[in-house]
Amino acid sequence: MELYGKKVRLRAIEAEDLELLRAMKNDPYIEHNIVGWFPPVSKQQQQQWYESQKLNNDTIRFMIETKEDGTVGYTKIANIDWKNRTASGGIMICNKENMSKGIATDTYMTLLKYAFFELNLNRINGAIIDYNKASQRFAVEKVGYTIEGVKRQAIYKDGAYHDLIMIGMLKEDYIKKIEETGYWDH
Ligand SMILES: CC(C)(COP(=O)(O)OP(=O)(O)OC[C@H]1O[C@@H](n2cnc3c(N)ncnc32)[C@H](O)[C@@H]1OP(=O)(O)O)[C@@H](O)C(=O)NCCC(=O)NCCS
Repeated sequence: MELYGKKVRLRAIEAEDLELLRAMKNDPYIEHNIVGWFPPVSKQQQQQWYESQKLNNDTIRFMIETKEDGTVGYTKIANIDWKNRTASGGIMICNKENMSKGIATDTYMTLLKYAFFELNLNRINGAIIDYNKASQRFAVEKVGYTIEGVKRQAIYKDGAYHDLIMIGMLKEDYIKKIEETGYWDH
């Protein structure tokens, strides 16, 4: 099913989205800020990835849309462990003009609601490179993830080692957050 937040609609990836996804994976700003890394992705590789992902039951992927700006990014619940009820989240917003409008915050509030109350997961993991202040602001300060530790010098980018901030959100944390903020009340 599609997911609806207060600003966003989270929908399935269509073949027409592949070029945007490829552009995001090839974008140096995004590469700098995400934990993982990609060699340059060709059109053919992007198509092969799309085909291979159709059979993957451990990751659920969405394109992010808003009424004002159309398709503005991509998000996922990945590495679902159906026994321990855990997974990890991921997000990329395309184009700097779409950033700092609260899209990632609403996307994660929506994604977490689905993870906890439809998939019946209990914990969502995350990791943020120490210099990624936008991610720390949206995930920790706005959505309410807890910082649980630091992996020292775990990430090598741009000629230096960087610490990786490990974060987590429990179902009980999320319930507390929505009760305190009334996020879904209005
Ligand atoms: C990180 C990212 C997903 C955030 O998306 P977004 O839609 O801009 O996030 P939001 O608008 O919900 O929240 C971002 C907050 O960080 C703030 N922010 C942005 N840049 C910042 C900076 N350099 N320092 C401190 N805060 C910053 C914004 O002002 C906003 O806070 P506010 O609402 O109080 O003003 C987006 O910047 C992105 O796609 N970055 C590249 C890929 C990436 O980093 N993915 C996540 C990897 S963990």
